[in-house]
Amino acid sequence: MESVKDIKSVTDVQRLVDAFYTKVLDDEVIGHFFTRVVPLDLDVHLPILYRFWENMLLDRPVYQGNPMLKHLAMDAISPMEPQHFARWLELWKETVDTYFAGELAEKAKYRAEQIALLMQHKVDARRKGYH
Ligand code: HEM
Repeated sequence: MESVKDIKSVTDVQRLVDAFYTKVLDDEVIGHFFTRVVPLDLDVHLPILYRFWENMLLDRPVYQGNPMLKHLAMDAISPMEPQHFARWLELWKETVDTYFAGELAEKAKYRAEQIALLMQHKVDARRKGYH
């Protein structure tokens, strides 16, 4: 039996992101953000996500962007609630665990959790008018 390997290359990152998006786009809880709130051109969007996670996990400075601003803008159109973040994280962790195991797989889950927390915090602050 082939053992599950850690995330090691850009190809691994692409496989992870592709598998995650297959789940997300069809999902009853959060799918609408990707298909109706922001109708995405996946040929443009997925390479951005590849670079984001390559930057995050393989420490290469290939992502330039501001995810917080994008999600704050999205929340203003269609509220991002705790159950949406919980579902996003559940699908992300499930995908990571299906394909990978090891230090970077753990890091992928940990960083996603931290960013999701920060994002929820910023969404809250914007709604309260703090920034
Ligand atoms: C409720 C949870 C989330 C939903 C529904 C969601 C949905 C989306 C959507 C629809 C976009 C496209 C926005 C646009 O192009 O205008 C996007 C972009 C993005 N998301 Fe999320 N997201 C969520 C949480 C997260 C988290 C926790 C992370 C990071 C760990 C993340 C990372 C990104 C990145 C890097 C982009 C691309 C930003 C750019 O264009 O530079 N998202 N997300």
